[in-house]
Amino acid sequence: MSKRRIGILTSGGDCPGLNATIRGVVRSCYQLMGEDNVEIVGIADGYYGLIKDMCRVMNPSDFYGILTQGGTILGTKRTPYKMMTVVEEDEVDKVKEMKQTYNKWGLDCLLTLGGNGTHKTANLLSTEGLNVIGLPKTIDNDIWGTDVTFGFHTAVDIGTEVIDRIHTTAHSHSRVMVVEIMGNKAGWLALYTGIGGGSDIILIPEIPFTPEKVIEAVRVRAEAGKPCSVIAVAEGAMDREEALLKRKDRIKKRAEAGEVTCTSRVARLIQTGTGIETRAVVPGHMLRGGSPSAYDRILATQFGARAAKLIKLGKYGYTIAKKGRDITENKLIDIAGKARLVDSEGEMVETARSIGTSFGD
Ligand code: F6P
Repeated sequence: MSKRRIGILTSGGDCPGLNATIRGVVRSCYQLMGEDNVEIVGIADGYYGLIKDMCRVMNPSDFYGILTQGGTILGTKRTPYKMMTVVEEDEVDKVKEMKQTYNKWGLDCLLTLGGNGTHKTANLLSTEGLNVIGLPKTIDNDIWGTDVTFGFHTAVDIGTEVIDRIHTTAHSHSRVMVVEIMGNKAGWLALYTGIGGGSDIILIPEIPFTPEKVIEAVRVRAEAGKPCSVIAVAEGAMDREEALLKRKDRIKKRAEAGEVTCTSRVARLIQTGTGIETRAVVPGHMLRGGSPSAYDRILATQFGARAAKLIKLGKYGYTIAKKGRDITENKLIDIAGKARLVDSEGEMVETARSIGTSFGD
């Protein structure tokens, strides 16, 4: 068997499980093809590193002890897809440079670990003739064609713990606590952490809320002797009026009102609408930090093993997915540019509603 040179990069926002996935794919490649027949080329800082030729040959020892390690040993960067085909002031043709780096290093294939933007560029490179395999990462869980992405469940665990801790302090002070959960376009993380942590109200972008309904839900609880309420708000949540606006107009409108985020807006609305002392909490990037959960370590290993099988078969232009109990793959071209959003009529929303959780609608 001739030696395979496999390039690996991690792109976009980091999340727990990137290293576990790298380890999974590399170890599986060593097992399937023999350590001497595989050479791993690590590309630093995502597509930026591919453009700038920031590559190095890695040794098997580079992958020891990384199963539990948060972040990414390769480093990552956001290089927006929409800029990939735009020649900026530096006059660099990014696609051409990426192809050149790929060819210079004699890569047989390129593994791209990332979210929706990463997959769009992966598909672009695939249509340009490179052998690409994607691996679905993101705490947002919004990649089309897979039931779950690695990183999501760890973030759910962290978010749930945040909400648990917020509950006790909310209770002591008889306050309303509004917790911002990452997720700009998709509300999966807020929905799951909201259910897992027992939030009284969950606000997500897919279900635009009515401010009066949110205030009403808090007031009804207070009148029933529960002055403390915990609200999980997805970063990208919006009310019905805001939902009619373009994103940039929404941001402008909020800035004019002195409210940068939906969370701060909801907190103000509740405090003025109910008179109950209200605080906003933003765990932010804590949701993405640290060691992956057991679930994500296992999923990352399954995804990595599947990617190694595709490499052995020479089956490129795919991204790995989990559907039901199966680990499988989708064509990059079929999933690129699509996002998997929360179904407002779906089972998870119905479950939350069935226990009395309000979505403010
Ligand atoms: O895509 C993952 C994510 O964590 C989103 O939930 C969030 O909106 C965004 O990244 C934050 O990006 P950054 O780390 O660049 O601030």
